[in-house]
Amino acid sequence: MSNITLTIIKPDAVAKGHTGKIIDHIIGAGFKVRAMKMIHMNDREAGGFYDVHRERPFFNDLVSFMTSGPCVPMVLEKDNAVTDFRGVIGATNPKEAAEGTIRNLYADSIEANAIHGSDSDENARREASYFFSELEIF
Ligand code: CMP
Repeated sequence: MSNITLTIIKPDAVAKGHTGKIIDHIIGAGFKVRAMKMIHMNDREAGGFYDVHRERPFFNDLVSFMTSGPCVPMVLEKDNAVTDFRGVIGATNPKEAAEGTIRNLYADSIEANAIHGSDSDENARREASYFFSELEIF
């Protein structure tokens, strides 16, 4: 499973009704959806997912935001999935996200930035298994 990435449609985008448009955008960009669910994370779950950022000044705000409502984690497959998907979503800060990227179209701020994408193949595998068992990935 090297051609996968893990995305989360974040609570801001779900609350604003953008879930369907974002999924269409992802499929239109050539990704196959291998697993998907809607969940509402608690502090432990969101903190565990972003454990690598635990010492960063924005960690508590990030956990509050990610637990503020439901989100939609998905496992996506495509050749070169991690790098290509980061191109599809755009820069972390939507002010810097290229025209037509998901964050350019749907994100409001560096925190409420609509969508997550794994930053390496190793993290993609770790993040996919954080939300899905092997049996849930088709
Ligand atoms: P994401 O790609 O999900 O990974 C970590 C998240 O932390 C990032 O998107 C942002 O939404 C959030 N974040 C909040 N503040 C910052 C910041 N100052 N720098 C980087 N990421 C931030």
